[in-house]
Amino acid sequence: MKNIIAIPGSLRQNSLNLELLRSVCAQFSTEARVWITPQAKLEWPLFNQDVPLPENLSKDLIEYKNLLKNSEGVLIASPEYNASVSGVLKNFIDWLSREPNPFSNKKVGLISVSTSPFGGIRGLMHLRDVMAQLGAFVYPKNMCLYTNGTAYSEQQLRLIKDFAHNFFNFIDSKL
Ligand SMILES: Cc1cc2nc3c(=O)[nH]c(=O)nc-3n(C[C@H](O)[C@H](O)[C@H](O)COP(=O)(O)O)c2cc1C
Repeated sequence: MKNIIAIPGSLRQNSLNLELLRSVCAQFSTEARVWITPQAKLEWPLFNQDVPLPENLSKDLIEYKNLLKNSEGVLIASPEYNASVSGVLKNFIDWLSREPNPFSNKKVGLISVSTSPFGGIRGLMHLRDVMAQLGAFVYPKNMCLYTNGTAYSEQQLRLIKDFAHNFFNFIDSKL
């Protein structure tokens, strides 16, 4: 059984990226145990090295880092804001990345959806750099979807299915 932690990069109630994350996670093989991180878990103070975390948050951070450490794969869905990754997600990653860094040698997949035809690809390119810096093995193919807010097309549903299948095989493979 493989453990996958999914992370949405948006706090929005009707987040398209959270919806996409759910759609991909619903496709994983029965060999995967998936946990979608609740959006509220991303609500951290703005990272400031001078300010120590209150005890309760510090405990939360350690617990979440342990979840990541004990997972075989991490799937991140990030909105694109001004051609980059969401600030909320970057702040969360900055908190998590303090030693021990749970992304080191972790298999990570990146997906996005946007109302612009770019589908969020420019944000994911930045996120790929961040993950590479943290020593993650990033699945080579991003999945970026364009939407006008209506249901996914047949072609997009196939992409979602294929991505889940291929990303699971990536997690399952020996690197
Ligand atoms: C300030 C701002 C900047 C944005 N910049 C981009 C962008 O550069 N590229 C893009 O594809 N979409 C951009 N968008 C659109 C968002 O990606 C889109 O609203 C998306 O649905 C947000 O993700 P969510 O639905 O998961 O919250 C921007 C939206 C806002 C509010």
